[in-house]
Amino acid sequence: METIDSQAIKQLFAEARTHGHWQDRGIAADTLRELYDIAVMGPTSMNTLPARFVFITTPCAKQKLLPALAEGNHEKTLSAPVTVIVAHDPKFFTHLPVLFPHMPQAEQMFANNEALASETAFRNGTLQGAWLIMAARALGLDCGPMSGFDKTKTDEIFFAENGWQSNFLINIGYGVKEKLHERGKRLSFEQACMLI
Ligand SMILES: Cc1cc2nc3c(=O)[nH]c(=O)nc-3n(C[C@H](O)[C@H](O)[C@H](O)COP(=O)(O)O)c2cc1C
Repeated sequence: METIDSQAIKQLFAEARTHGHWQDRGIAADTLRELYDIAVMGPTSMNTLPARFVFITTPCAKQKLLPALAEGNHEKTLSAPVTVIVAHDPKFFTHLPVLFPHMPQAEQMFANNEALASETAFRNGTLQGAWLIMAARALGLDCGPMSGFDKTKTDEIFFAENGWQSNFLINIGYGVKEKLHERGKRLSFEQACMLI
């Protein structure tokens, strides 16, 4: 493996921004499948893959989400071509006989320990949301993640039947660069890291 070229690092991290204004340009359904297929290759503990993604692509489905959104997130969400609910399945472990076959006791380990299952679902589901953001950027898409929403309401509206639990939202589309505000500072290596 070699270091990827500097343009790719710029696209993924250094110049990628959080967007709230969107070009009038849709995202093809095939692109959303490609996005998932890339993101799902990111690592999770014991290959648990607890994340579940709801791609909201129609105005009608957006209206369903609206009552759960913080007011400040209304406009950016209604104008985005796609809004993703990043959720996780608390019963993710039922897939482990296929996903992690070399540990036959894995499913029972989580089934018998709700605290471990819940922590694992949240940790790895969150990671998978981050992999989705990075996969979107790799495909030339822009993202606007959001935690300003009511989880309980969202779960009632979308997951009453399957029991999935929402974690955060991501607007996806092609952002309007001119509308970005100045970028927030980042902590330095010295402030945020220990080298021991
Ligand atoms: C998990 C998460 C939740 C966020 N929630 C919101 C939100 O509810 N509303 C909002 O306008 N921005 C939200 N943001 C955007 C952040 O403020 C933004 O990503 C951060 O300031 C970095 O901006 P930059 O990517 O342009 O440098 C959220 C970001 C993340 C990762």
